[in-house]
Amino acid sequence: CGIVGYVGPQRAQDVVIEGLRRLEYRGYDSAGIAVVHDGRLAMAKRAGKLANLEKALVEHELPPATIGIGHTRWATHGPPNDANAHPHAGGARRVALVHNGIIENFAELRARIEADDHVFLSDTDTEIAAHLVELQVASGVDLATAMQRVCQQLDGAFTLVAIDAEDPDTVVAARRNSPLVVGLGDGENFLGSDVAAFIEHTREALELGQDQIVVMTRDDVLVTDFHGNPVEAERFHVSWDLSAAEKDGHDWFMRKEIYEQPRAVADSLIGRRGLGGLLQLDEMRLDDDEIRELDKIIIIACGTSFYAGMVAKYAIEHWTRTPVEVELASEFRYRDPIVDNSTLVVAISQSGETADTLQAIRHARSQRAKVLAICNTNGSSIPRESDAVIYTHAGPEIGVASTKGFLTQLVACYLLALYVAQVKGTRFGDEIDEIMNQLESMPEHIETVLEGAEAVYALAREHVGTRSVLFLGRHAGYPVALEGALKLKELAYLHAEGFAAGELKHGPIALVEEGLPVLCVVPPRGRDSLHGKMLSGIQEVRARGARTICLVEEGDTAIEPYADSLIRLPQVPVLLQPLVAIVPLQLFACELATALGHDVDQPRNLAKSVTVE
Ligand code: G6P
Repeated sequence: CGIVGYVGPQRAQDVVIEGLRRLEYRGYDSAGIAVVHDGRLAMAKRAGKLANLEKALVEHELPPATIGIGHTRWATHGPPNDANAHPHAGGARRVALVHNGIIENFAELRARIEADDHVFLSDTDTEIAAHLVELQVASGVDLATAMQRVCQQLDGAFTLVAIDAEDPDTVVAARRNSPLVVGLGDGENFLGSDVAAFIEHTREALELGQDQIVVMTRDDVLVTDFHGNPVEAERFHVSWDLSAAEKDGHDWFMRKEIYEQPRAVADSLIGRRGLGGLLQLDEMRLDDDEIRELDKIIIIACGTSFYAGMVAKYAIEHWTRTPVEVELASEFRYRDPIVDNSTLVVAISQSGETADTLQAIRHARSQRAKVLAICNTNGSSIPRESDAVIYTHAGPEIGVASTKGFLTQLVACYLLALYVAQVKGTRFGDEIDEIMNQLESMPEHIETVLEGAEAVYALAREHVGTRSVLFLGRHAGYPVALEGALKLKELAYLHAEGFAAGELKHGPIALVEEGLPVLCVVPPRGRDSLHGKMLSGIQEVRARGARTICLVEEGDTAIEPYADSLIRLPQVPVLLQPLVAIVPLQLFACELATALGHDVDQPRNLAKSVTVE
């Protein structure tokens, strides 16, 4: 969910709605706003996208308040309707409150106060917090104290922001788990789930830590713990500019982000080679002895980041001879995994806030494992709770379906693999320089693939009537097939499945029928290559009527007789091929979804950052 708060001289409605617009990617199944004016609360909320709320506000303007809070929701408890949209108010409509996360003991708390004739208007877990805060202020304490007392009663992960009709100068917010930042203005202050909410007003910000409360007036920001003791919050300057949060002339953020990939990959490689050509990872914070003692690496992640982890396994095991397991974060801690202090757990997360991944690293650390985060979001929860971090430098990723996040995660994984090889002195230690040269030439190769976008778009538009698509790959091309299929599911809402091409004959081939599109990621030719085996797989599906679309390297003519369509890829080593092979699949999904009339940046039912387990 996206959260915004404001107090200052400007019209609160304008600042809050603008902030919500910039956060809409975080959740968009309903939106709402509350302001305080003349000792009264005024609220508006609507199911659906923010535009519905804006329309309602044109019809019924809010009073000209200068303090307000807002929310865009991604539903957890209760369907996305007007009543369940945030803000929620207490019974006497004195306190309004917005919430991100889950209050786990809400049913029990609610039952307790329902017994005292409190009436609830929604199915949400949030409304209880509004009632409890209101009961506290009604008993005579200020809003900050009320928030402290309520936070002490709540279980779960929550970020709460509240205003009180009888205190027109103060916004109070509390953070446990889900992110919250304060924007420091001059005679005005802001709150947001991320800095995009207020970046056009100020670049000075405070990052609220775990279990902290902020009390914000026009001229003052006070941060305390849940007991009211003042604490230091981390201040930072936001360096990325507003245009990074806008579309640069593309129709979708996602398309813009696909085209930013050469730059993002290059940025993620900058400054990695130190004196004597040795690889250096400045933020790493694991010493060489700790790395030498590792006997196992477990990679945990969700969604697209998980597929980056699958590619990483091929590279890390090949270059370092260290065993690697790759596991879905949501499964990890529930199977009693074997983890100890010679295990390195690598958590891959673009947002750094994914609850499944966060809980998994907490479990790993409780078992004394070292945790390394690969993350794109500075100061987010996952790197904060890890022993070490490699930041990717993709810049903010707004499109819900990850693209440049994925490519830069791959880069970080390759860097990690090479670094471990260097420290452990494996046979590939001597080849680091050469592999780094190959990595550094990847932005150019990605650019070449992007130059061929028009042909991929034309192919995508030919598939508007398609109901189902298969993706095949082998070796590092297998996760690419899975990620290609995921992109199509997320954006085009099509049945799409990725398979290891060798597994085809053990079941999936039964799905093949006349005209079924099958996208095949063909490995580069060369010694030990799976090229020939992939070719057999392509022949098998084609013989059964499939329409084959083959991604093959320049100069590979062997596939031509069996391909209904060809997409050419630059010649690169097999382990690095995912960096170029995924790009046409991203373009394909983006264009097909556009042709189908879908909202590519905000696909139905999905959210960019899923902060619930
Ligand atoms: C959500 C997003 C996916 C993303 C996944 C993991 O489900 O919709 O695009 O891959 O979370 O996100 P993370 O931020 O942890 O990489």
